[in-house]
Amino acid sequence: MKLYDVYPLFDINIVKGQGCRVWDDKGDEYLDLYGGHAVISIGHAHPHYVEMIGKQVGQLGFYSNSVINTLQQDVADRLGELSGYDDYQFFLINSGAEANENALKLASFYNGRTRVLVQEKAFHGRTSLAVEATHNPKIIAPINANGHVTYLPMNDLPAWEAELAKGDVCAVMIECIQGVGGIRLVTPEFMKGLRELCDQYNTVLICDEIQCGYGRSGKFFANQHTGIRPDIITVAKGIGNGFPMGGVIISPKFEPVYGQLGTTFGGNHLACAAAIAVLDVMKQDGLVENAAKIGTYLMEELKKFPQIKEVRGQGLMIGMEFEEPIKEIRRKLLFEQKVFTGVSGTHVIRLLPPLCLNKAEADEFLVRFKKVLE
Ligand SMILES: Cc1ncc(COP(=O)(O)O)c(C=O)c1O
Repeated sequence: MKLYDVYPLFDINIVKGQGCRVWDDKGDEYLDLYGGHAVISIGHAHPHYVEMIGKQVGQLGFYSNSVINTLQQDVADRLGELSGYDDYQFFLINSGAEANENALKLASFYNGRTRVLVQEKAFHGRTSLAVEATHNPKIIAPINANGHVTYLPMNDLPAWEAELAKGDVCAVMIECIQGVGGIRLVTPEFMKGLRELCDQYNTVLICDEIQCGYGRSGKFFANQHTGIRPDIITVAKGIGNGFPMGGVIISPKFEPVYGQLGTTFGGNHLACAAAIAVLDVMKQDGLVENAAKIGTYLMEELKKFPQIKEVRGQGLMIGMEFEEPIKEIRRKLLFEQKVFTGVSGTHVIRLLPPLCLNKAEADEFLVRFKKVLE
């Protein structure tokens, strides 16, 4: 059986990881400034993570959501403490797209409406309503194009107000730092204005923190740079450090109803063991603070490169925009300098390293990057 060929692949077979480094099947070592697409939060093969998952799978890998699973509460307790959202409720699911589907579903149950506003260049996932809320017609199939979603310019509050004032908007879904959209940041003024408008028109404010959340921005959530609290926050990627998981963080104003949401795999024992290990390490090793510190340092250094048109970002979510397409720079970084990076579109290199990246590794990246640009 052939694989369904939807991914343009680099000819590299990664077989091992440790901290911020990975190795291919030929034994070549790479510096990982990509984190497997913002997924590796605490670093590859962290000993606590390996131990927790190993122990759990030996004891009980899975049982269903029809019985008590105290590990789910253990995750929620740690997450509430570390994020400052301990008064919110937590629903566990399997992926980012699913987290957004459930967030939108909750919003629609809440106010009975069906319209959604998102930012231009938004990325919210590849399924059903999440893909309709993604501003890329190439991945929206006719079956997904159901006219629920309006795309609006980022930070242009009057444009959002004009739509919200119609009184029929179910939810606003925002990436406080756009990932796929090119590492673009919302302004605190925009978010404060949006918060007030959502309250005024009974619209649910959702922050999609699947890429920018979970410590990556140098605060636990990127929305915490803006001074507002959304009604719902969605998370995935870094929460399991590679174990497939998503979550919906839900304000106390939502009343849970038996059967309204559900999942077979979400919040299973193995997934919870991974999530607990991630939060333990984030707390013990101060990874949110590290992301802020090393991210600020990296951005300051990158701004010194005259070849880069603009450096944008927060914490360890950094975009470098070039005048010219970056394909060749990225290729050289990977194949000549052995550094993994990400991209946004054709002109932006995206850095999404594990949150444990230290200063020596950041400096190593800067040296290798300089060699490519010379
Ligand atoms: C902001 C954002 N939302 C949603 C998703 C979808 O997550 P998943 O691929 O886990 O479905 C992504 C994935 O890249 C993302 O970056």
